[in-house]
Amino acid sequence: MYFDTHAHLDDRQFNEDREEIIKRAKEEGVDLIVNPGDNMSTSKKSIEIAENYDFIYAAIGFHPHNAKDVKKDSYRRLEEMSQHPKVVAIGEIGLDYYRNHSPRNVQREVFIGQIEFADKLDLPIIIHDREAHGDIFEILQRYYNGKSGGVLHSYSGSVEMAYRFIELGLYISISGPITFKNARKNIEVVKEIPLEHLLIETDSPYLTPEPFRGKRNHPSLVKYVAEKIANIKGIDVEEVAERTRENGKKLFRIA
Ligand code: NI
Repeated sequence: MYFDTHAHLDDRQFNEDREEIIKRAKEEGVDLIVNPGDNMSTSKKSIEIAENYDFIYAAIGFHPHNAKDVKKDSYRRLEEMSQHPKVVAIGEIGLDYYRNHSPRNVQREVFIGQIEFADKLDLPIIIHDREAHGDIFEILQRYYNGKSGGVLHSYSGSVEMAYRFIELGLYISISGPITFKNARKNIEVVKEIPLEHLLIETDSPYLTPEPFRGKRNHPSLVKYVAEKIANIKGIDVEEVAERTRENGKKLFRIA
């Protein structure tokens, strides 16, 4: 059984066949999914989906792309939504210095705001870090309490950086790019970091693993990520599936 810790099932790319995709995931052994939000409306959709399926959980929050849309009452609204029993985390939050859809200073302000918000609610955080490793680390070191837990989603940094994040109390989540030809850096991370610190995810509908790269991603394909990790570490895929599933349950406090 697999825990896909990051899938955007609310994405419009699933509008035609969402139910079918979710059913297929369950049939193919994915028995836990966390669906993160990236703004107010996708956070709401995420909760709606989680209400319809007992094995799907929701995270709520503002993606760095949408940091510029955070308003005065956004935190109050998020706090109300966080009371829903299927909300297990604040995310995805972080910094994206690749696309810069929001100004960097606004991204930083909103990232810090949501770290403190998650701390107040005692919820784990799901962190998006694209070409911002240094600032992500500095902000976490300064503002993150190390107690509520969290994950670097679709991790793309170095081994050294991964250990620094782990020391802060965070998990490292591995996604589709681990299967790509140019995955040398990611492969080093998987080789070096013990399984007890790793999670797996699809980031559906994005980051589709080989051999389906270029097509739409969906939770059933998380097994290709697990297989690649098993292959790199020289262990059984069942062990990867089980350990990462347990890690995810612990992080998101799912019984
Ligand atoms: Ni995502």
